[in-house]
Parts: sequence; C-alpha cells; structure tokens
Amino acid sequence: MSDFDTAWINCHLATMAGADPYGAVPDGALAVKDGRIAWVGRRADFSGAAAKTVDAGGAWITPGLIDCHTHLVFAGDRAGEFELRLKGASYEDIAKAGGGIVSTVKATRAASLDELVSAASSRLQQMVSEGVTTVEIKSGYGLETAAELRMLEAATRLGAENNVDVLRTFLGAHALPPEFADDRNGYIDVVCSEMLPAAVEAGLVDAVDAFCETIGFTLGEVARVFDAAKALGLPMKLHAEQLSDSQGTQLAAKYHALSADHLEHLSQDGVAAMAAAGMTAVLLPGAFYFLRETKLPPIEALRAAGVPIAIASDCNPGSSPLVSPLLTMNMACTLFALTPEDALAGMTREAAKALGIAGDAGTLEVGKRADFCLWRISQPAELSYWIGDNPLAQRIKNGT
Ligand code: NIG
Ligand code: FE
Repeated sequence: MSDFDTAWINCHLATMAGADPYGAVPDGALAVKDGRIAWVGRRADFSGAAAKTVDAGGAWITPGLIDCHTHLVFAGDRAGEFELRLKGASYEDIAKAGGGIVSTVKATRAASLDELVSAASSRLQQMVSEGVTTVEIKSGYGLETAAELRMLEAATRLGAENNVDVLRTFLGAHALPPEFADDRNGYIDVVCSEMLPAAVEAGLVDAVDAFCETIGFTLGEVARVFDAAKALGLPMKLHAEQLSDSQGTQLAAKYHALSADHLEHLSQDGVAAMAAAGMTAVLLPGAFYFLRETKLPPIEALRAAGVPIAIASDCNPGSSPLVSPLLTMNMACTLFALTPEDALAGMTREAAKALGIAGDAGTLEVGKRADFCLWRISQPAELSYWIGDNPLAQRIKNGT
C-alpha cells in the first residue's frame, strides 16, 4: 500500500500559507491521497511511498485559482451598450432607459437550459484553461422563478461538465423586472417567498446576493432579502458601494455576510464594519476598468483594518466581459496597486474566504482539496505580470 496516490517533485511551491512571501517553498514536494493534499514541504524532507511520482520539470505550483464573483450564465451580449457608453451614455443612463441588466434579462428568459449552458461553457473553459478550479456563479438575469431556476441549473451543469467546483449564488434582487416597475414591494415579496424558497427546495443555492444601489435595491429591500436568506440558513454576499455610497456594506455586516463586493465608494465607517464582522472585501478590477471608473476602492484603509481582500472577474455582459483570471490579477496590480502576491492571494486564499470554503480550498495545505496549478514561470509574480500570456502547464483537480 502506498502512502500517497501521486507525488510531485522537482517543483517550487507557492503555498499561500505561512509567513514567507507567497508561502514559498523552493525545491518542494507535494503529495495527494484520495483527492486531498496529504503532504507538502521541502523535497529534502519528503519521505513515504507514492504510487506515482511526477517530475514537474521545475514548475511553480500554486493553489487552483478561485473566481469568487461571476455572472457567467447569461444569454446574448451588450456590445451595443459598450458603443453607446463610448459615445457618452453612462451605465446608469442606459439602465434607467430600460437597457442594462434588464436587456440581458430579456435574452436570458428566452434561452433554453442547453443554450445557457453552451453560451457559458466557452467562457468557463477559458477560465479553466488559465487555472480556475472553483468558480462562483450568480443567478439574476432571470428575475422570475422559472428563469432563475434555469440559470442555477445551468450553473450546476457547468460545474459537472467542466470538472470545476461551482458555488451557486441566488441574485434575484439584481434589478427590478419591467413587469414590476410599479410594484417594488411586490417584486421583493416574490423574491423572498417564491423564488428563493423554490431554488433552495431544488437544491440549487449556496448563498444569497443582492445589488444595493440607486439603480438596484434599497437598504430596506436588501434587508428583506437577507432576512429570508437568514431564515433559510444561507450565507450572504452583497454588491455594495459600486456607483455610490449606499451603506449596503454596513447592512451586510449586520447580517455577518461573507463579503461585500465592488466597494469603490466604501466609507471608513464601512471599512470598520467589515473588519468588525470578519467580512472579506471582493474587488472587481474588470468592472472598474470597463466602466472607466476613476474612484478607487479604499485599499489602504481595508489593509490597515485587516480586511481580507479577494479579487474576481465579475464576468458579466454589462460591466465586465472578462473571462481571464490572469488578466484580472494583472488589472488588480495595475489599477488597484495590489502587489502580485496580494493578487494571487486574492484569487486563491482570500477568494476562498469570500465563498466560505477556506477550510477546503485556497492554499496548499494538508487536508485541503488537491486543486492546484503547475506554471511554466520562474517566479510567482509572473502570474500578474504577463498581459495575455498563459503560462499554465497543468491544472490538477481533486488530485488528478
Ligand atoms: O457586478 N452591479 C451589478 N451587477 C453586475 C453587472 C451586471 C450587468 O451589468 O449585467 C456587476 O457589475
Ligand atoms: Fe457582479
């Protein structure tokens, strides 16, 4: 009987755990058993028998990348709105004129489950080809029970078909659907007492999110959605302070949400609330870039308060048609001045925190899922450095 199923040698490890930069172990070894990491450390200290030993050829090994905020499932695109914005219309103008999220809702409602899966598959495959092993996917372009369930079913199928862990977030409170234009409360009623319970009943929900914004939902409306989530025992996340300081973050903190996401307009008060509630900040450089924002999230204040900072693609057709985790890391460095080490942590260790899976993923540590990537690079900073290159040599999911 072997101690391990597979061992990797002749590699350097960026474990993202411990005090050293990147948790680096030069000339390391990593072994897996039953889909979990069973040994990690210096090769010189490695002992035990492995059924199979892989010479990694000097590659760097990092945890598998985790994209912790995406709207990957949708139909159509909004390239036309991109053109309008470049001619002067704002993201808010377009939303108020009945475009924006609602136009993707029309296309998504009209799409079949197969069509949704096939459109999202190519986006997911791009992410996987750059080392993604876990992805969060939100609903929120259905905004009626059947279409919200179809999106979440599509997300579930995408995970199974592409060998990726998918966490599904219910985002029924993403935008007000046109048929409820005069009945905001009525829509929140449907979200809380029909859509969410039906999605939970079908076993399709891992967390609940909402869009707290002038063009989204008010604090009171989000609180109703969070009360429903809490009653069902689901963790919460929030799109907060993206376009204005609506103080959604403080509300999310009251509910001990896992994360608040976007945060360009976050106040010092909001930072303090996040720190006190143990929340993770999810920064979305793709949306900042694509909407040509100029107001930066308060990164120094978040750091000073000890709030973990994750980064994500926010892949969606309106504000961030970004399917590249490596470009997301590069943008986090160039636009938000994260260090390459913080960018990698933001797509591994801290992203796991934002999804509530830190016990299981995000670092190379014994006991965690054997999800990792082998890269043809000479130092980990290269992962944030190249623009449009993909140095992935191999992606290992559950040890194989
Ligand atoms: O995270 N802010 C709200 N939701 C998405 C955008 C969705 C869309 O424009 O389709 C976001 O940026
Ligand atoms: Fe988003």
